[in-house]
Amino acid sequence: MTSLNGFPPETLGTGKPDSREPPMIEAQGLSKEYGRPEARVQALKNVDFRLEPGEFAAIMGPSGSGKSTLLSLLGALSAPSAGRVLIDGVDVYGLGSDTRADFRLGRLGFVFQQFHLAPYLNLLENVMLPLAVRKMESKEKRARALDALARVGVDHLANRLPDEVSGGEQERAAMARALVNRPTVLLADEPTGNLDQANGEKVMNLLAELAAGGMTVVMVTHSASSARFAGRILHLADGRLVADEKTAVQPEKEQGGCQAA
Ligand SMILES: Nc1ncnc2c1ncn2[C@@H]1O[C@H](COP(=O)(O)OP(=O)(O)O)[C@@H](O)[C@H]1O
Ligand SMILES: [Mg+2]
Repeated sequence: MTSLNGFPPETLGTGKPDSREPPMIEAQGLSKEYGRPEARVQALKNVDFRLEPGEFAAIMGPSGSGKSTLLSLLGALSAPSAGRVLIDGVDVYGLGSDTRADFRLGRLGFVFQQFHLAPYLNLLENVMLPLAVRKMESKEKRARALDALARVGVDHLANRLPDEVSGGEQERAAMARALVNRPTVLLADEPTGNLDQANGEKVMNLLAELAAGGMTVVMVTHSASSARFAGRILHLADGRLVADEKTAVQPEKEQGGCQAA
């Protein structure tokens, strides 16, 4: 069996979208309130949707519509005020906080707007961080981190510190770090926000390809040109899911492997 981008197929999730499969992500009546009672913000209001394994969904909506809030709820980072998040059948906020942290580390990958790279570690060391607690020889950790950097086209910069590379290269290193644990779900908040168009398209092709390999990808974006790489667009307005759009472009596995190098 061939591997996708060097990942053995069995590590890439539970397979392609298939109507017989249970959803990979299920949001049930999700609501989130912030702030003191006298200054309540209703950031999310009763949001429901399901994503199949291998779906690539974009979340769009005006600033303040609840996109980042939704992503953090899906990412097991912030408990909803009401509702449930099921990931691969697991009610993530029904887990204790330690178990939830293990679940997050083992199953979910994150790429945030701020890259959160450790400034005193080189790119390779940054990408190795999520492997720290893994029982694995350090030689294998280095190899896996280098492989992840290669997949996003910055392995030649492995020994540079984050401030010695460009913003686009930092973004790719952050993506490599998100992928190194081979998550089943990848969550990205404006992954192309700091990239020029050409680099943005490379990152979108990579996300589409990961989804084609079975990873479920959820991406917040302001960019219509980025969203068209997704098979599905969830539109938020004022905390509500106001439209759930299937796009014409269904992600398919690219010919000739990774386009992001
Ligand atoms: N930690 C917080 N405390 C209070 N209000 C917040 C907090 N985070 C977000 N909000 C508010 O919740 C709403 C949705 O925010 P957010 O999810 O960041 O929207 P988006 O990502 O779409 O711009 C906004 O009104 C925002 O001001
Ligand atoms: Mg946001």
